[in-house]
Amino acid sequence: MIQKVGIIGSGTMGSGIAQVAATSGCVVKVFDTKQEALDRSKQALDKVLSRLIEKERIDEIEKTRIQNNISYVDSLKELKDSDLTIEAIVENLDIKKKVFSELESYVSENTIIASNTSSLSIASIASALQKPERCIGIHFFNPAPLMKLVEVIPAIQTSTEVTQEVINTIKDWKKVVALAKDTPGFIVNRVARPFYGESLRVYEEGVADISTIDSSLKTLGGFRMGPFELMDFIGNDVNYTVTETVFKAFYYDPRYRPSFTQKRLSEAGYLGRKTGKGYYNYDKTGKVISENVTSPQRSRKANTDQSSQEELEQYIFDRVLVMLINEAADALFWNIASAEDIDNAMTKGVNYPKGLLSWADERGIDWCVDKLDALYDQYHEDRYRCSPLLREMKKEKRKFFSLV
Ligand code: NAI
Repeated sequence: MIQKVGIIGSGTMGSGIAQVAATSGCVVKVFDTKQEALDRSKQALDKVLSRLIEKERIDEIEKTRIQNNISYVDSLKELKDSDLTIEAIVENLDIKKKVFSELESYVSENTIIASNTSSLSIASIASALQKPERCIGIHFFNPAPLMKLVEVIPAIQTSTEVTQEVINTIKDWKKVVALAKDTPGFIVNRVARPFYGESLRVYEEGVADISTIDSSLKTLGGFRMGPFELMDFIGNDVNYTVTETVFKAFYYDPRYRPSFTQKRLSEAGYLGRKTGKGYYNYDKTGKVISENVTSPQRSRKANTDQSSQEELEQYIFDRVLVMLINEAADALFWNIASAEDIDNAMTKGVNYPKGLLSWADERGIDWCVDKLDALYDQYHEDRYRCSPLLREMKKEKRKFFSLV
């Protein structure tokens, strides 16, 4: 039973994870090398909890209870009595390994040592430990207190007991667990790539401008934000780096190839909302003023003989959706996670309106395969290869989820 939790790094993620654990009644110690970061974390928690009181979601007693469960410490050694530690420091393998190795010299034999890394392999982090079987990935989504999903990623070294204990704990923390294989991007950061990548490609081909692409995914797909709005929100530097990391980690599989458009935006410092300029221009209040990037050949529609705006939007939505479905199906094909966990990951980690495999069932597996084959026929690029799983399912007339 996990009662004492140590958090390493009190930035965006560490602070959010501390709040989650403390809300569930764990005694939490938060460590950071920077005193300012600890102070900021404490103030941020106070603000968040006060807002929850204003919204009548919690009362003063609850606020005090949560705050009293958290202490802020300036030495790693203070985490020595933790049952579980979760690291959320800078995304750098060497630094993480150094911290893990030092931490292991303080904690007890049974302490579980976890990382919140988004892109590093858990096996490589675990290799820094004398007892690597206690190491695991626990990947929260930002903002951690709001996003329901947590990816749990056992490394090849991780013991089954540790994995089970972590799953139980994360469920006790009222989160939805998706168990993922230790592969690049885990589930969400892998399966979500086409949302950005295929949209950028549609734009670069001159099929449509960015606002048309955004609008088609919002209106027809029900996504809360269009891909360009979302990239501006995440930051083009951050989003580009994730794509590039996944691309390299998959040995340069063309399906994940980053886009020059986004690279140039990032190089120019057009990072999105945080710099007031990205795909869109923003005013001081964060409102969109205009498009910053314009399509060079607006009139060219990728080999479709459709002409109306409605048909164009349908074409864009279908193309991005089928690429997302293909990615989700392929993740299942490669046993990255179960079908349920892949669908939960996208709806509960990044607020997709529907699970992608359920969406595939709804649209029909035949439709998915035919659409992908049509794209492949058009481009002859490996990027558009249909997952063998979809092809097999079409042949056997199977669905991902059979109706009960
Ligand atoms: P952040 O930059 O907000 O916070 C990192 C904190 O770690 C800083 O306060 C820094 O002072 C501290 N730190 C750096 N080196 C340290 C050390 N050796 N010992 C103790 N503290 C140290 O970063 P953020 O966004 O919270 O990310 C942290 C980790 O979580 C990264 O591994 C990132 O990949 C991962 N992550 C980030 C998500 C996000 O949306 N920001 C989502 C999921 C995972």
